[in-house]
Amino acid sequence: MVKICCIGAGYVGGPSMAVMALKCPSIEVAVVDVSRPRIDAWNSDRLPVLEPGLDAVVRECRGRNLSFSADVDRHVADADIVFVSVNTPTKARGLGAGRAADLAYWESAARVVAEASRPGRSKIVVEKSAVPVRTAEAMERILLAHGGGGGAAFQVLSNPEFFAEGTAVRDLLCPDRVLIGGPDTDAGRAAARALRDVYANWVPEDRIVATDLCSAEISKLAANALLAQRVSSVNAISALCEAIGADVSDVARAVGGDGRVGGAFLNAGVGFGGPNLQKDVLQLAYACECHGLAEAAEYWRQVVAVNEYQKGRFVRRVVASMFGTVAGKKVAVLGFAFKEGVADSRESPAADVCRGLLGDRAHVSVYDPAVGEKQIRRDTAAPAAKERQVRVARDAYEAAEGAHGLCVLTEWDEFRTLDYRRIFDGMRRPAFVFDSRGVVDVGKLREIGFVVYSVGKPLDPWLKGLPAGA
Ligand code: UDX
Ligand code: ADP
Repeated sequence: MVKICCIGAGYVGGPSMAVMALKCPSIEVAVVDVSRPRIDAWNSDRLPVLEPGLDAVVRECRGRNLSFSADVDRHVADADIVFVSVNTPTKARGLGAGRAADLAYWESAARVVAEASRPGRSKIVVEKSAVPVRTAEAMERILLAHGGGGGAAFQVLSNPEFFAEGTAVRDLLCPDRVLIGGPDTDAGRAAARALRDVYANWVPEDRIVATDLCSAEISKLAANALLAQRVSSVNAISALCEAIGADVSDVARAVGGDGRVGGAFLNAGVGFGGPNLQKDVLQLAYACECHGLAEAAEYWRQVVAVNEYQKGRFVRRVVASMFGTVAGKKVAVLGFAFKEGVADSRESPAADVCRGLLGDRAHVSVYDPAVGEKQIRRDTAAPAAKERQVRVARDAYEAAEGAHGLCVLTEWDEFRTLDYRRIFDGMRRPAFVFDSRGVVDVGKLREIGFVVYSVGKPLDPWLKGLPAGA
């Protein structure tokens, strides 16, 4: 029986291994983590990662061929294939701060693998987390420096994960492609074949793509960078649409209708968020910089710069529309997650918008159907803001009661069908709605009496004369 161990029971390791265990009943899969509370949560009824369908998958496999354990060394020692799926946040300080990935967790995982290995027992080590290019090479060096575990042989492969949050199980069950990068040697090819055989249990062969190691590593960063670049491109166009009086959603539809361009990831908004896109664009830029490719690095940095511009532009619109000041005014914020369908607010544009408004001394009242109060408070704790400036509401109506303005910052479906007449009745006059995600029916809201700003749409006559601040 093949034994698989995954180091890191996080957003990536947990769901991807659970689906692997589901689809490969003859393989034993152990997911290990240094964090005991994380492991306890995976072994409980309240999983630490909320994904539609994940509970059912874990329930079916846990105790059969899927286990979660804090005994990292034992499971790593037992495994034939070790996935490394630890976090690689952007470095907060030191060399490359704000641009490079912090490989501390990752290096410690590599050392665990080296130390837990036995002579005469070969292992396949698979990078699963998004890592800087050439990390596989570094991993090989660490493994070799440990004397290969006194004779243990290692083959390092790259097998980046492409699922999106909120659709993890669906994406894992039916991936567009599975990418396996490995060295072009007999042993490397054999290792890649062994991993391909695992995926072949449920993924059609023609969707399993083989490349060399570096290409697989770059592909992961490039995929996220291209998604981010599309969002920044359409957001840059949204600014022009507002200036000219065009409608960005019509433009996106017209452009995306070209099969070469495609319609996905062309929704203008308040900028991309989440733990992946910005981090990977910055890593790609840093890789370019490290190889002396200043212009290429600058190109990718502009994707992040436009994202910052879009968030700032939104805040400036809100403030400029409300007579140049939000000081002491209540602003309702609907939506805090970085996108619809997730309880995750990491790098959420909503947090940046709140901090911007709080910096201008607004009082914000936040409602999100999934993100908890503690998290919202943590994310809005701006240095200049006071705790009482932030309220967390139980629903949209409570958030909007007595507010001067209302911002829609996540595209939750429930915001499309709110009783906006009731909301209007409870708000101060003039009542402003600032829709960053194209959620509201602009015409209907204007009929009710709101002054409406919707990103990339023709401006409300009320806003036309005002300085855009954009
Ligand atoms: C992303 C990639 O999509 C996935 O393939 C990779 O494995 C991990 O990173 P995720 O971080 O879950 O997935 O979020 P994604 O769905 O890509 O959205 C990222 C951000 O872009 C969100 O804030 C979303 O609201 C925003 N976005 C997306 C837009 O503003 N407009 C769009 O058209 C699409
Ligand atoms: P990702 O989104 O990449 O899955 P997460 O932060 O959700 O990242 O999860 C990474 C997990 O890896 C965390 O639970 C962390 O405790 C774990 N981890 C980090 N370093 C190690 C290590 N050396 N050994 C085992 N687990 C580790």
